[in-house]
Amino acid sequence: MQMMKKMSVFGVALVMTLGLSAAVTARTDAAPQAPAGDKAKGEAIYKAQKCSMCHRIGTAGAKMGPELTKVGATRDQAWLHKYLSDPKAENPKNKMPAVKVKGADLDHLVAYMLSLK
Ligand code: HEC
Repeated sequence: MQMMKKMSVFGVALVMTLGLSAAVTARTDAAPQAPAGDKAKGEAIYKAQKCSMCHRIGTAGAKMGPELTKVGATRDQAWLHKYLSDPKAENPKNKMPAVKVKGADLDHLVAYMLSLK
């Protein structure tokens, strides 16, 4: 009987240890954030929002704002997410209008930006 008791205490400790290490592993796996959005949907949003009235990708679009041809190589997901939702937070003098899309659509737009490199 005494033996059984010891075994179950050991068992609980083992389960806790395994659970803990699983939680730690899960956290490290999630570290480099994969783009959550769909870049094809993001491209459609880019067109619908008329971003090309001010921006150029390759040879298409205007030159009022900076060229976005390689924006995915210089900016990361977190920066783009924050900047697109509120460009003036980055610099109050910014002329870029805040994008009108939110949630999943914003994720798609960011995924499209990240694919430009
Ligand atoms: C009225 C013109 C205008 C429109 C429309 C516009 N932008 Fe901009 N954008 C700018 C300007 C100007 C900047 C440069 C910084 C500033 O002055 O805000 C900029 C900066 C940016 C940047 C940062 C580039 C960098 O690496 O510094 C991104 C990304 C961007 N715009 C994406 C978009 C997207 C996506 C859309 C459409 C949803 C859009 N812009 C619509 C004018 C515009």
